Amino acid sequence: MKFFLDTASLKEISWAAQAGLIDGVTTNPSLLAKQAGDLDPKDVLKEICSVVEGPVSAEVVALDTDGMVTEGARLAEIADNIVVKIPMTEAGMVAVRQLAADGIRTNVTLCFSSVQCLIAAKAGASYVSPFIGRLDDVGQEGMDVIREARTIFDNYRIDTQILAASIRHPRHVVAAAMIGADVATLPPDVLRKLLLHPLTDRGLDQFLADWNKLVGRAKAPV
Ligand code: G3P
Repeated sequence: MKFFLDTASLKEISWAAQAGLIDGVTTNPSLLAKQAGDLDPKDVLKEICSVVEGPVSAEVVALDTDGMVTEGARLAEIADNIVVKIPMTEAGMVAVRQLAADGIRTNVTLCFSSVQCLIAAKAGASYVSPFIGRLDDVGQEGMDVIREARTIFDNYRIDTQILAASIRHPRHVVAAAMIGADVATLPPDVLRKLLLHPLTDRGLDQFLADWNKLVGRAKAPV
């Protein structure tokens, strides 16, 4: 399973990339607005693409097909590893088809059902992003969408990648990995939680305490 970092924070992306923990990045207009400040969002995206070798998703804000295609082509010019995020709408599907024909990779976002994922894959999307957490937030079982999409894509040998998004906690990552999602995009705090376990800390403390006792005995005056 590939891990993408779901943020536009250069500090967090640099940390995770240098630690070798991530294979790419996803952003969206909300995440960029949170980080860009006075900077041009395109400059922030260019910087992110220079820090991460893997795919970096950048979302269009146009709602019409021509606008999405124009914006998508401009985003794709920022760096070779840009993947254009397109919303799961009728206009978006036409845009995905046109961008795919132009050799531009797309990530169809705001997917909330397996059949939306199927429609996006049929349009030529490179990735589909089902939002698990937001479905859970409204009392639905977000993981069902990942499970159904995986079965459907495998039934028809569809190579569009399932990118589990809107991840809220480590159990979402485990469940998505057990089902076989290709990618999970993680907020930085969730990625940190994946690394940690209290028994690891306790075990390491005990190893060091026992070792120091041994070393202490060796140095003790006879
Ligand atoms: O960036 C796409 C998605 O992961 C955002 O989900 O629910 O955390 O805003 P959310």
